[in-house]
Amino acid sequence: MLTKLGFIPEQASTLAGRVDALYFFLIGVTVFFSVLIAVLVLGFAVRYRRSRHAKAVQIHGNLALELLWTGIPFAIAMMIFVWSAQIFMTIVRPPDDALEIFVVGKQWMWKLQHMEGRREINELHVPAGRPVKLTMTSEDVIHSFYVPAFRVKQDVLPGRYTTLWFEATKPGSYHLFCTEYCGTEHSRMIGRVVVLEPHEYADWLTGKGPAGAAPAAGAAAAGSAGPSMADLGKAAFERAACQTCHSVKPEEDAMKVVGPPLHGIYGHTVKLLTGEEVVVDDAYIRKSILEPMSQVVANYPPAMPPYTGRVTEEEILQMIAYIKSLGAPAAASAAAQPAQ
Ligand code: CUA
Repeated sequence: MLTKLGFIPEQASTLAGRVDALYFFLIGVTVFFSVLIAVLVLGFAVRYRRSRHAKAVQIHGNLALELLWTGIPFAIAMMIFVWSAQIFMTIVRPPDDALEIFVVGKQWMWKLQHMEGRREINELHVPAGRPVKLTMTSEDVIHSFYVPAFRVKQDVLPGRYTTLWFEATKPGSYHLFCTEYCGTEHSRMIGRVVVLEPHEYADWLTGKGPAGAAPAAGAAAAGSAGPSMADLGKAAFERAACQTCHSVKPEEDAMKVVGPPLHGIYGHTVKLLTGEEVVVDDAYIRKSILEPMSQVVANYPPAMPPYTGRVTEEEILQMIAYIKSLGAPAAASAAAQPAQ
């Protein structure tokens, strides 16, 4: 009902109801105490007006009362803390089985790419009933990805990856806003999130299905699925001649000794020249491409040139998808060995 009246946006994610419940609780507490105080102020002003009570009776302390008015606000504050902390923990931890989609913000548009290769601008297609994780970065200034109907918002920063996840509950089209002032056209950096039934999404990914409400019969461009992100990443990898120094399959390891082999490295821990250990994740790979000298892997010469300005943020995301596709972490394959 509140949605119909325009008080709150539509609830279209698993998180929306939980966020709204907390929000209404906060409003309820605020309204209750505001009204209580206002009524008491007015009531006492009338009841103890000077014409009837010329002299006030002073009370010097009341332990029970003091415990009460300390205890009640404390209990309410702790309740809000625990409640919001639970929601926060849900928001910051994307489920492991989430569908991964990549977002690059720039003045003034959203560029989105699906693992399978489909790319879109200012429009994001996702399946209903499945967690979706967005890995986001910016080409220029700070933007912020906001979908009111999902109750999610996350800043998109240049120079690093931020993530956001949601699970849409019902098919439809929902507003997408940039909610960080990012220059002249900030107010026009808008788009929409189109939530499809899972089978519609599968069709859409392969370029077969309708991109929205159009009938399936109108899908003339059947089977026009482009290259996947990993394929594009391989192409970018080879354009940048990364394969000159890095091996991508075990057979090449002996020939390429300048840079560490990249197959099976994703998700694995590597030791750096400094002795520090880091996990090879999206952020580490990105940094290694742009500022290779910052975290050199132990036992390899610090020989890689920085690629800042030579590869785009989108190409870096594609290269990450490619490196990810090169195999499971070495630890996992090692664990599989004794089973043979
Ligand atoms: Cu991008 Cu505001």
